[in-house]
Amino acid sequence: QKNVGILAMEIYFPPTCIRQEVLEAHDGASKGKYTIGLGQDCMAFCTEVEDVISMSLTAVTSLLEKYGVDPKQIGRLEVGSETVIDKSKSIKTFLMQIFEETGNTDIEGVDSTNACYDGTAALFNCVNWVESSSWDGCYGLVVCTDSAVYAEGPARPTGGAAAIAMLIGPDAPIAFESKFRGSHMSHAYDFYKPNLASEYPVVDGKLSQTCYLMALDSCYTRFCQKYEKLEGKQFSIDDADYFVFHSPYNKLVQKSFARLWFDDFLRNASSVDEAAKQKLAPFSTLTGDESYQSRDLEKAAQQVSKPSYDAKVVPATLIPKQVGNMYTASIYAAFASLIHNKHSSLAGQRVLMFSYGSGLAATMFSFRLRGGQLPFTLSNIANVMNVGEKLKTRHEFPPEKFVKTMKLMEHRYGGKDFVTSKDCSLLAPGTYYLTEVDSMYRRFYAKK
Ligand code: ACO
Repeated sequence: QKNVGILAMEIYFPPTCIRQEVLEAHDGASKGKYTIGLGQDCMAFCTEVEDVISMSLTAVTSLLEKYGVDPKQIGRLEVGSETVIDKSKSIKTFLMQIFEETGNTDIEGVDSTNACYDGTAALFNCVNWVESSSWDGCYGLVVCTDSAVYAEGPARPTGGAAAIAMLIGPDAPIAFESKFRGSHMSHAYDFYKPNLASEYPVVDGKLSQTCYLMALDSCYTRFCQKYEKLEGKQFSIDDADYFVFHSPYNKLVQKSFARLWFDDFLRNASSVDEAAKQKLAPFSTLTGDESYQSRDLEKAAQQVSKPSYDAKVVPATLIPKQVGNMYTASIYAAFASLIHNKHSSLAGQRVLMFSYGSGLAATMFSFRLRGGQLPFTLSNIANVMNVGEKLKTRHEFPPEKFVKTMKLMEHRYGGKDFVTSKDCSLLAPGTYYLTEVDSMYRRFYAKK
């Protein structure tokens, strides 16, 4: 198959959100800590009528409807999520309700789990299937769905929630350059969820930042090696038009791109000009460990990479800044931002993607963008996602109401025998919502 990749996308995030400026004041953090320090504007969250299943039901039905895809045409469905609702029954099986109605139960795939990386694992599974000899000509469908919530404390402002659905097949406008992939996987306790009675992770914030940057270096090195072996020339930042990162919060994305500049400097790549070389030279003798701890290096690298950051990274930061960390959906929401902002000028361009999941698993890979054929064109994807409208029609909660919602969700997590308020007044038409969890923990949803 040629140009296998993403044919269509849809994104859903809850219409309920809190502004970071407001949360910052409420938490007693110093002014600017969440907005400038973390680089975040707003954070979406599920109320008691939404969860990862309802969000994914919404995203999948909307994608099928808006692109006119018959549910019978789906042959593989993979879900990436780290939000555990059931330790055995996959989220994919909940989504089967959509397909069973049409008589299609011949759909391979279940869920993948490893922190924020699961969506990428699911995507690779689908792309590999379409490229394989077991492909039956049907479409693949990938769903990333997560509700990121943290206990009260410094990590709380780095939450978020969303579901993204992506249709996979050949002749895609978002085509994989499958030969160029660099991974780094290792054992770390940076962020994990050992307490099965709680939705909140155990997180070592500082360690998670270092693990992320180390994985980035390692993946970039391997990506470059593979590129160089196959293309016979050195890869540098100049060879990609845009960079899309998993985005727990925007500051880490700024630091990551700066780090790639430092990597290019150390590799003596042509992308780093004389002026930048001079600014980075004092740091060339640092050991790896020292380089992750050096504030001066961080500052210098951010400074030299700033114009390039504005051009190659900023277009892919809108949704993560406005919605927050969506775990598995974060990197694809960042990519969706790029399509939203630049869809008319993206044909022919290369996008470098960095996916990271704590624990840890990480891959760098690339897309080559193409015009595509209706309904699978970049402009139509931007139309369908309608990101501007979705952001505009949200409802901001005051902090007291947000905290109250978090408390209720804590109480409800893992619970049974309750009905929700069924209040869907804030949800857009077509949105699924949770109505009841019965005495056997069976979950029931309705569609607005
Ligand atoms: N104005 C401007 N900037 C400020 C202010 C202020 N008033 N106050 C603090 N800052 C800056 C700090 O200098 C720092 O920026 P820097 O890193 O460039 O120096 C930034 O704001 C954050 O401040 P810290 O004190 O470092 O924040 P804290 O330790 O309280 O928490 C953290 C941040 C670790 C990210 C926390 O929110 C967390 O644990 N989040 C979850 C883990 C996470 O997302 N890890 C990322 C990879 S793993 C994953 O995706 C889940």
